[in-house]
Amino acid sequence: MAEFTRGWARREFIIGALACSACGPQADGAGGKIVAGLSVPLKEASTLPIGTAITAADLADAQLVRLIKENFSQLTPASEMKMGVVINDQGKLNFGAAERLASFASDNDMRLHGHTLVWYRVEPSFFLGLADDPKKFRAEYLRYIDKFLRRFKGRVSGWDVVNEPISADGTGLRDSVWSRTLGKERYIALAFKQAAASDPNAVAFINEYGLEARPAKRLAYMRLIERLLKKDVPIGGVGTQTHISVDLPERAVADTLRDLASFGLPVHVSELDITLGRGAAATAGKLKLQARRARQVVEAYMQLPSKQRYAITLWGVRDRDSWLRMPPYDPDSDRPLAFDDKGQPKPMLSALAAALKGAS
Ligand code: XIL
Repeated sequence: MAEFTRGWARREFIIGALACSACGPQADGAGGKIVAGLSVPLKEASTLPIGTAITAADLADAQLVRLIKENFSQLTPASEMKMGVVINDQGKLNFGAAERLASFASDNDMRLHGHTLVWYRVEPSFFLGLADDPKKFRAEYLRYIDKFLRRFKGRVSGWDVVNEPISADGTGLRDSVWSRTLGKERYIALAFKQAAASDPNAVAFINEYGLEARPAKRLAYMRLIERLLKKDVPIGGVGTQTHISVDLPERAVADTLRDLASFGLPVHVSELDITLGRGAAATAGKLKLQARRARQVVEAYMQLPSKQRYAITLWGVRDRDSWLRMPPYDPDSDRPLAFDDKGQPKPMLSALAAALKGAS
């Protein structure tokens, strides 16, 4: 962790990065080697940290725990580091569930990735109650970030400091209690400045979704990052959640990763899953296409300079654990992950492992 994070606090970024978003990568060959039944555990296929996301409740599931220990070298708490879990109505912080996952990670030699400090979707009543007192609100906001980061200092390799700052339509910025009380972009700048002060060795990520299928949203995200970096806001890494679909155009992931890498910062594929589409049957053809997309993600990622490769994280382990299997998504049938409902490896797993091995 330390050798990776050192050196990023004062990094340069390439002005003019946005110019690259129109150029495509080399055509990617047809087919792709998918080694059926490849038995190499995912994490042994590469030295790159390969992450997954679980909840504290998942620790009671023996099969899931075994699959995690065998295959993953990094852990993201799916919910336990979100404000909604950590802070109560009086502003008291409770890190119990986050600590359980942190212990699991350290007991199993897994790196821990913090997710997420500030997110428009979590507006705790404690903060809503302070919204008419911006001075107090600001002090508590900074105190929250400071307390959290100091507590996990040395145990967390990176943080998603601000999650999903771009508006749903992909053109502007999210409106939230944070933006309304602290300023449209100011809340982001404040969070990153506090994060850098509280734990300068953790890579401070900004994180967003929908960048692969929607180039306009990607551009809005990049423009925001560029504006903030120009103002010396210490963003340390760029995350792309990579919730993608089997139907994504061939070059979309490679274009996205190359564009995001143009800032010169570490890039995190932070929440990879590949939906078959709502209600779509898991035909052999769809699962093969899913494996092909997974291979493309790894191959494109491995094209980045090694210093910019932070990790590839899958958002879950078995299909049935996926957030896409919860309402309002597709409770019955989606198969977005690398292990099936029974914990058996899917073609997607073999493709990930083969591509990681091929690239190392
Ligand atoms: C999801 C978790 O997987 C669920 O367990 C939780 O109920 C809701 O949030 N983008 C994100 C993640 O950044 O935090 C979301 O995680 C999935 C979408």
